[in-house]
Amino acid sequence: MQRNSEGVDWAIAGPRLFWLSPIFSALVVWIAIGTGQAAEWSLPSSGLTALVILGLMRLLRCRLCMDALLRRDFAAAWAAVLRTPEYRADGYKLPIGENVIGRRWCINIAQSGNILVGATTGYGKSNLLRCLVKRAIESSEIDTVTLIDLKMGVEFSEFASEVKVSHFASTPSEAFAALFAAKVHAEARLKTLPDAGLREWVGPLRIIVIDEVAGLARDRACSALFEWLVNQGRAAGYRIIAATQQPSVDVLPSLIRQGFDTRIALHTATDDHARTILGSLPDHARFDTKRLRKGRAVALYLGKFYLVSISATA
Ligand SMILES: Nc1ncnc2c1ncn2[C@@H]1O[C@H](COP(=O)(O)OP(=O)(O)O)[C@@H](O)[C@H]1O
Ligand SMILES: [Mg+2]
Repeated sequence: MQRNSEGVDWAIAGPRLFWLSPIFSALVVWIAIGTGQAAEWSLPSSGLTALVILGLMRLLRCRLCMDALLRRDFAAAWAAVLRTPEYRADGYKLPIGENVIGRRWCINIAQSGNILVGATTGYGKSNLLRCLVKRAIESSEIDTVTLIDLKMGVEFSEFASEVKVSHFASTPSEAFAALFAAKVHAEARLKTLPDAGLREWVGPLRIIVIDEVAGLARDRACSALFEWLVNQGRAAGYRIIAATQQPSVDVLPSLIRQGFDTRIALHTATDDHARTILGSLPDHARFDTKRLRKGRAVALYLGKFYLVSISATA
């Protein structure tokens, strides 16, 4: 798979530096004032002041950090900074391709919700799933990965022995066992949320990746578990990533489809298929899924449409 370019690493590091630079500059000002050096050093005051103000604005927006500062609990304040989205973003961002101007395009799995991938067969669904699985395995914010491929497990066989892969299912009974284990675990997590005062699980996420979800949907027992996980799993820190070549209503009824916030359509044969996957059709011609080449996708992500070139894993 193509690895990141330097510019993209900086784009990810940027928010962290944005946090750190005001904190360091505040430290410099504080030491300079404390040691009486400020006048001698003739600090470039306007730039530093601007950075300090930016840093303070960030701290003010981070309520937990402010609470800890007011209690003079500096360790807790720093821990709160480390828990902000900027610090956690790395592990949640799964880079899967490039946008139209060649910049790395990532899916933030914490924000994306469940992901539905649909396309005519042969246009890159399994490749896209493998891309996501590879990134998920590398990510520090992803706890375990469950892989379900009812076509003898061929698409995911390269990941079968990875430590993070908790279940590798290639038959309906294995898929049932994997989904059942996920449901039991998700329910246990959900029960702990009210006591912790949380509405959604905070911490490493668990991912369930299903290739050709139609096979699963045909199995009554599996489809009930699948439906439960799509609708209730998110709050428990589960994310479902499912691919289908049959984006029809009998495979994915609209109630289940609504549980997928992020939709990715590769090439589709008809507008109807694209509409079933994406939910609605973007009106711009460059988003026409009938004209997409292999590996090109239209993604509906966080409410916007993107044209993405998916990395080839081979
Ligand atoms: N992002 C990509 N870039 C280039 N070629 C791709 C890409 N994705 C898929 N392909 C090509 O298309 C073929 C079919 O891809 P695959 O992921 O198996 O499709 P599907 O699962 O939709 O049937 C692959 O063998 C590969 O040659
Ligand atoms: Mg496939």
